Amino acid sequence: MTQKKRQILVTSALPYANGVIHLGHMLEYIQTDIWARFQRSRGHECYFAWADDAHGTPVMLRARAEGMTPEELIDKMNEEHKTDFRDFGISFDNYSSTHSEYNREMVELIYRRLEENGYIERRDVEQFYDSEEGMFLPDRFIRGTCPKCRTEDQYGDSCESCGSTYAPTDLIEPRSAVSGSTPVMKESEHYFVRLADFEQALKDWIASGSLQPEITNKLQEWFQDGLRDWDISRDEPYFGFRIPGTRNKYFYVWVDAPIGYVSSFKELCDRTGLDFDAWWGKDSKAEVHHFIGKDIVYFHTLFWPAMLMGAGLRTPTAVYAHGFLTVDGAKMSKSRGTFVSARTYLDHLHPDYLRYYFAAKLGAGTADIDLNLEDFVLRVNSDVVGKVVNIASRCAGFIGRRFEGMLSEKLPRPELYNEFLAAGEQIAADFEGRNYQSAIRRIMQLADKANRYIDEEKPWQQIKEKGREDHVQAVCTQGINLFNVLMTYLAPVLPFTASRAGDFLGRDVSSWSNVDQPLLGTAVNAFQPLLTRIDPVKVSAVIEASKETLQASGPDSDSLAGGDIDPLEKEIKIDDFLKIDLRVARIVSAESIPEANKLLKLTLDLGNETRTVFAGIKSAYEPAQLEGRLTVMVANLAPRKMRFGISEGMVLAAGPGGEDLYILEPDDGAYPGMRVT
Ligand code: MSP
Ligand code: ZN
Repeated sequence: MTQKKRQILVTSALPYANGVIHLGHMLEYIQTDIWARFQRSRGHECYFAWADDAHGTPVMLRARAEGMTPEELIDKMNEEHKTDFRDFGISFDNYSSTHSEYNREMVELIYRRLEENGYIERRDVEQFYDSEEGMFLPDRFIRGTCPKCRTEDQYGDSCESCGSTYAPTDLIEPRSAVSGSTPVMKESEHYFVRLADFEQALKDWIASGSLQPEITNKLQEWFQDGLRDWDISRDEPYFGFRIPGTRNKYFYVWVDAPIGYVSSFKELCDRTGLDFDAWWGKDSKAEVHHFIGKDIVYFHTLFWPAMLMGAGLRTPTAVYAHGFLTVDGAKMSKSRGTFVSARTYLDHLHPDYLRYYFAAKLGAGTADIDLNLEDFVLRVNSDVVGKVVNIASRCAGFIGRRFEGMLSEKLPRPELYNEFLAAGEQIAADFEGRNYQSAIRRIMQLADKANRYIDEEKPWQQIKEKGREDHVQAVCTQGINLFNVLMTYLAPVLPFTASRAGDFLGRDVSSWSNVDQPLLGTAVNAFQPLLTRIDPVKVSAVIEASKETLQASGPDSDSLAGGDIDPLEKEIKIDDFLKIDLRVARIVSAESIPEANKLLKLTLDLGNETRTVFAGIKSAYEPAQLEGRLTVMVANLAPRKMRFGISEGMVLAAGPGGEDLYILEPDDGAYPGMRVT
């Protein structure tokens, strides 16, 4: 591989700081990370820098709802996001926040240049205003009846029922989603970037050819509709950066968000001594590649390059849009438990499983990607574990036990090894073109070949024959070397597994050129299982736990509240009451769960069986106070999966909660298992 060393910066879209990372985000971040790791493994100088998108009305309101300052909220989320990404093996070089001082300086610099170059205009705009809250309302914070189909409670910009789009002023009976009051029209001065000034330059940039064809088509439509001025200011109260020279106007979040790509990289430069201008200066020879979702193409292919042009900075080399993630063929849904957070996934499953599955499904286009849970289990188990890891485990045993870990001096089939090497160029071209799907297909074909080779040689049989030891050693050496090549190709996709494979081989698998020469005449290390099969039960646990996350209200709630029935509201019939199987139970043991704020784990004796129940009475009782006592439980409540285990019923207690809570205890004479009526 004699190739010029490229300088590459890659970015992913910045996740909003008001929400947790979910598997939809992870599709993008894994796609980007595979590309970055691939470029590094080919010997290029590649950095991955990005940030949290910290500004905007939703962040401000969310912080208020949680009783925090916006700064406290974004700091907390930044830590959480970073931990999620690290645990998924995302190899970012810098992860910042758009609320950083670096970003403020960069935003002010770019704005100043836009203004000096005459691209900024001001004029008055009339907009909905919530006079109770004293704030202008973004479209998403206005609700009302759809003017087309008359469905109630729709957003200010579009109807979820009939799909039509409209202006918030078209809504029938508009209301503020913040206070519920009826908004009024109010005028205020806004700042605009004159986008039309950039039309020709944008067309030239697009013609330079690094956009996907479907995006280029979309852009032609937008050009035909005419480029309208872009409103870049928002009135206070707003969480963001103030526009220099104004008292109460802020940059719209979409101004400072993409600038976060630049300032996060600047932060990296200052930390590591990289030359910032060589990457972002007008005549930069370096490459900048943005990975984004198809919902934010407009911002990245019109606003963003226009801002860079207007400020005299380089434009992106490429913008790549991907499709949306669906789960089992449908939009991710909280009630079905398919809205899975990165953390919930990681609580149960290995990150390389998902990385592999996404890679196996991602192409270069903008098609949506379906995570089919059954297929996920089958595919990962059969490809990664059954094919690739299997090659190593089939050969490693013999090498370790019979030959003290030593590999032979020669390969019995060097041409097979060379065939694997030669396939590397096509695989590399697939990765380069984001055709991961195709790269994976080729790698799996090679894995099949390697397994077939071992099947034909049958080392397990030959080892029993006299005088065949050398040959068995050579066959296994061949197998291990083929495995080495495959793991090298897969390393950008499976970083954790690849690193374990590297430990076994005693050779770094994260560099493509390391396999130019096979491993011969040296020892390998003891083989540890690299990756085990996915247990489908774990997948169900992820879905169950994702349903839970929704029911639990509040950030640290571990309460038992079902949430959807109001017990005091309706009269019930005696038959309804009789459906509840109330029983006397003895508390055999009570344990505190350190991570739970409210729950004690109770073991209950019901006479002829024992149950585990999680009860929200931690604040009222020391576990020891409860042991041995009798209480009353609901014995026929459907088992419920909670964060700490399965709860098989519910104990009854009186009182409003906190310390003021009293378990029900029957009078003397009652015994475990007795029915309560
Ligand atoms: N903050 C903006 C991006 C600013 S970039 C200068 C934003 N944030 S987001 O959190 O809503 O989304 C971040 C990225 O995740 C976007 O590229 C978005 O397309 C992607 N995804 C969010 N949900 C997704 C799916 N369900 N499926 C695939 N990608 C999704 O947009
Ligand atoms: Zn409608």
